[in-house]
Amino acid sequence: MNAYISSLGHYVPEKRVSNDELAKTLDTSDEWIRSHTGIGNRHVSSDQETTAYMGYKAAQEALDKRGIGAEEIDMILVSTITADYHEMPGTSCLIQDLLGNSICGAMDIKAACSGFVYGLELGKGLINNGTASKILVIGTERLSRVLNWKDRNNCILFGDGAGAVLLEKGEGSPRGIINSILRAEGSGFDALSHPRGGTSNPFIEGEIVGTDHYLDMDGRRVYNFAVRANTVILKDLMEKNGLTVDEVDWIVPHQANRRIIEAAAKRDKIPLEKFYLNMEEFANTSGASIPLALADMEKKGLLKEGQKILTVGFGAGLTYGGNYIIW
Ligand code: COA
Repeated sequence: MNAYISSLGHYVPEKRVSNDELAKTLDTSDEWIRSHTGIGNRHVSSDQETTAYMGYKAAQEALDKRGIGAEEIDMILVSTITADYHEMPGTSCLIQDLLGNSICGAMDIKAACSGFVYGLELGKGLINNGTASKILVIGTERLSRVLNWKDRNNCILFGDGAGAVLLEKGEGSPRGIINSILRAEGSGFDALSHPRGGTSNPFIEGEIVGTDHYLDMDGRRVYNFAVRANTVILKDLMEKNGLTVDEVDWIVPHQANRRIIEAAAKRDKIPLEKFYLNMEEFANTSGASIPLALADMEKKGLLKEGQKILTVGFGAGLTYGGNYIIW
């Protein structure tokens, strides 16, 4: 009896910025961004829409849909690379406070765009071993605050938003998080990072802030890693579970870039229609992208009990991984 996803929620800021809008202040075009990434729009937070606020709204929606109160939650796991506070306190604690639960465990997961994939497996473990019976796994990101909006190489790729799932103890049905593959390649730590502000390169009192505290990425290096990570994880997840491509109903990848998914699909000989893609509307929302995609699928009526679903995440760390879910 595996832990299963009993409810979903999401939140995206109202403000929507199209590629054409960006091209008014940046040397880029809708044509370039679409053809290189598949991205058409991104949502951008207001001053009030903090990382914790968006995560809270997504979590509250999941709880409301399930018809339970936050006091029933035993643990909150939050995947984010855009925490409201640097290093501490965890955004999970802020979300706990907003939800009005004053006792459950709360922990942030720092596995970047793979964080939700890691979170599902961690949550499943805590439920299956009896530590918790109801867990919120949340991905929430405010990437607009860590981007250099003058750098066309990076800022076009990302957006803000949150997704949340409620994990509960399975009750005899085959539904659940069946198993996962969680990996990392630390040798690529500098391919995608925040170079400034950590203890190895702290800000110095009185210095004038430059641009090196923004998200920094070697796009080509990350692209090559991402295609390889997708290919390997999907192949290994199917092998591990004795699944053929035909038996898989949906693949829900981290929504970084359509070209990455197309290249991986071609290598693995998987029809592109098996992949659920919504980066056209939301761009790359890092740890939020997979739960946001699941919530989007549910809204469109695409998720049905018994479906076999694979997730695949990849990102800074470099981390990567995937989950096999029976819906
Ligand atoms: N608009 C117009 N031109 C742009 C541009 C933009 N937004 N961004 C870059 N360019 C230009 C470059 O300056 C370069 O011009 P040059 O040849 O005159 O120097 C040209 O386009 C090609 O740049 P290149 O970096 O080779 O493009 P690319 O085909 O590798 O595409 C990315 C760039 C970022 C789209 C691609 O590398 C990528 O998708 N990487 C993965 C990024 C990602 O998804 N990261 C998150 C993973 S979790």
